[in-house]
Amino acid sequence: MGVPSTFLPAILIISCFMCFCPDLANAATGVTRHYKFNIRLQNVTRLCNTKSIITVNGKFPGPRIIAREGDRLVIKVVNHVPNNISIHWHGIRQLRSGWADGPAYITQCPIQTGQSYVYNFTIIGQTGTLWYHAHVSWIRATLYGPIIILPRLNTSYPFVKPYKEVPIIFGEWWKADTEAVINQALQTGAGPNNSDAYTINGLPGPLYNCSSPKETFRLNVKPGKTYLLRIINAALNDELFFKITNHTFTVVDADATYLKPFETDTIYITPGQTSNVLLKTKNITSSARFLMAARPYSTAAAGTFDNTTVVGVLEYNNHNMQFSNASIKGLPLPPLPAINATSYVANWTNKFRGLQPSKVPQTVDNRYFFTVGLGSDPCPKNQTCQGPNGTKFSASVNNISFTLPTTALLQARFFGQTNKVFATNFPAFPLSQFNYTGTPPNNTRVTHGTKVVVLPYNATVELVMQGTSILGAENHPLHLHGFNFYVVGQGTGNFNSATDPANFNLVDPVERNTVGVPAGGWVAIRFRADNPGVWFMHCHIEIHLSWGLRMAWAVMDGKLPNQKLPPPPSDLPKC
Ligand code: C2O
Repeated sequence: MGVPSTFLPAILIISCFMCFCPDLANAATGVTRHYKFNIRLQNVTRLCNTKSIITVNGKFPGPRIIAREGDRLVIKVVNHVPNNISIHWHGIRQLRSGWADGPAYITQCPIQTGQSYVYNFTIIGQTGTLWYHAHVSWIRATLYGPIIILPRLNTSYPFVKPYKEVPIIFGEWWKADTEAVINQALQTGAGPNNSDAYTINGLPGPLYNCSSPKETFRLNVKPGKTYLLRIINAALNDELFFKITNHTFTVVDADATYLKPFETDTIYITPGQTSNVLLKTKNITSSARFLMAARPYSTAAAGTFDNTTVVGVLEYNNHNMQFSNASIKGLPLPPLPAINATSYVANWTNKFRGLQPSKVPQTVDNRYFFTVGLGSDPCPKNQTCQGPNGTKFSASVNNISFTLPTTALLQARFFGQTNKVFATNFPAFPLSQFNYTGTPPNNTRVTHGTKVVVLPYNATVELVMQGTSILGAENHPLHLHGFNFYVVGQGTGNFNSATDPANFNLVDPVERNTVGVPAGGWVAIRFRADNPGVWFMHCHIEIHLSWGLRMAWAVMDGKLPNQKLPPPPSDLPKC
């Protein structure tokens, strides 16, 4: 009382130093949360097979990161394994913190054995579920975990408050060492060996041979409550359908942006995508069990992907029900769409609408058209190759299979060594045009290079990504680092620049970081290049990434101090 109002800020600042006033601190600037990630080997047994896997702190899947919007995360990663490691915080915008983004040889050199690196970044304007994963070779097969971003203090969800929140992470499990799997594939030119199982929260479930009862994910629920499932597809190579017998979901979020809610009984999710969905449990008073199941969507040839099914169990009022594989296998499987249900996928993508007033750019400074798809490389002399017609599989964007440099692009750019490391002439349009989704051309060869697109700060970008039918039309989930983009249009066949833009949604498009380029179709996205740095864009199907379906955008600094990328931290790893 009686304090002149001009003194108030000073008093608040002083009192914050002297006392514990978390509300003020949290609401204004967020708190700093420290995590330590010891990357180490851990023996894990699945399907009667024990193997040593790369983990965070011995945990599989990795530990949860929990923060509120506005918080700073400081994560010290220490590498105790023989492999090079880097970690990507998938979907975090990394505004002016590109040094913490993580893709090896793009924003940083990997962390070598015995070395460490502190990832330091702030979560700005994002609430929902994201995830982290290793971003070098195929290490992410076992190194992944959820990032849970709660709303700011005193802010609530734009939907009913859930009774409980549960991460549901899909993964893919190989009995063999996954580094051997990818090395062999790259050597022979063939597709990689299929995984042996899909997993829910690391557990394959009873439909696989030699699965112990402990290897089934069980979700115990109370009747009549709302559960928030935080769904993450961390599988390496497969898009998935997910369903629970006799239940429906309300989809409220995609890639940590709010949606206009919609109901569904079957979720479709690509590698890299995340989604929050509400599950309202039934009013059942007795004990009851329902199966949940996930299996792939794929248009690839039979045998070239893992077509198995992971199941888990939704359990009501489970006080002391017996649990055996036989009892679980007797439950009805939820009827999932056909494995090649491309029309289900197209309808699904059309349901997504952003909730908040959209910031989608209404005008566009720079337009791009990229073909994405598979291709081939000739077999080296003195070798026999096992890819298509004795060649090696490859993959490309605008027919360029991206060669990873031996030093990080962002480092090269920051230290003015661009010319030695990458070229800036990535083509805005395909250099040779053909009927992208028609009969494939005879020549399926790709070219190679380390090329980027340079964007001025704050440019508005429209990118049409066109799938090709070369060596099979497949859905390619394209992931952009450093930004969310708006999905303004999609279609089947070839994009028509004369007629298709008239149907773009510039009102309430979904905002996300990973979108499927439909098999034999196209997708159009827009974003604003408001984040200086070098940003990777790639197919999140790991084998396509390995084959070169990747490129990068180099976004220049703006004029103002707060539009520039700060210098790298002193512990940035060296190559
Ligand atoms: Cu989740 Cu570059 O990836």
